[in-house]
Amino acid sequence: MKVTVVGAGAVGASCAEYIAIKNFASEVVLLDIKEGYAEGKAMDLMQTASLNGFDTKITGSTNDYSKTANSDICVITSGIPRKPGMTREELIGINAGIVKTVSSNLIQHSPNTIIIVVSNPMDTMTYLVHKTTDLPKNRIIGMGGALDSARFKYRLAEALGAPISDVDGMVIGGHSDTGMVPLTAHATRNSVKVSEFLSAERLEQVKEDTKVGGATLTKLLGTSAWYAPGAAVSALVQAIACDQKKLFPCSVLLEGEYGLDNLCIGAPVILGRNGIESIVEIKLSEAEKAHLMESAEGVKKTNNLLEL
Ligand code: 2OP
Repeated sequence: MKVTVVGAGAVGASCAEYIAIKNFASEVVLLDIKEGYAEGKAMDLMQTASLNGFDTKITGSTNDYSKTANSDICVITSGIPRKPGMTREELIGINAGIVKTVSSNLIQHSPNTIIIVVSNPMDTMTYLVHKTTDLPKNRIIGMGGALDSARFKYRLAEALGAPISDVDGMVIGGHSDTGMVPLTAHATRNSVKVSEFLSAERLEQVKEDTKVGGATLTKLLGTSAWYAPGAAVSALVQAIACDQKKLFPCSVLLEGEYGLDNLCIGAPVILGRNGIESIVEIKLSEAEKAHLMESAEGVKKTNNLLEL
């Protein structure tokens, strides 16, 4: 199993590290445009192998896509991260050109690859890959919902005073500060609905804290987060590589599902060796449906900024 991660910045390097530590991939290629940067990160990570107990071979490359040839899965993290006060959507001008070039280079050397898009604005960047490449729709996946759901679970556990392992929850919709749809009605504490423990007001606060989870960290860190994004990507990569048939919310091209068409937005999918094995249409309340529709309008607005 060969995985390529484009972008050796904080998110890309964290993603490579988590993939390696999980030890399911034979090889991870880390690629960056900055001279020697990916090679340095790869070497540093390889020097943790004996300490962290993995056999995955991590190599680095300065913009030589031949080194990524025949990758089973390619992760695109390249592009600029946001600064405090910026929205993810404001990154489109620079990141769209980068994602278009990177995806084309990757597919040239790995025509059968599955692509996972992380670069922001992620839903629109995922849509861009659909529109500018010939990859089938099951092999183009946007990572946002897995991260947002992890933040949702963090906030739920905090509100419940419960261990994270007792909590489950999912966030669908756009990966944006206003477009996320945390499914509080579905969330559980060890199979018991969280609404049995938390008031409507407290759940509303959990939803709001989840939606701005990225922005909260960008304010604290001065740049976008990287540990949770890297870990979320590694979970998707593992589900595909190990054919786990796990259900994740991912940004996926909708063609009628949830009453939406011709956009990529966070929806529950089953992930396996073919990438998106299926899109799962779960029952949503009228309010959740309305939030998803509103979120889709926001994603489409950003999509319209693309020069396709
Ligand atoms: C985040 O929410 C980088 O969009 C990513 O942290």
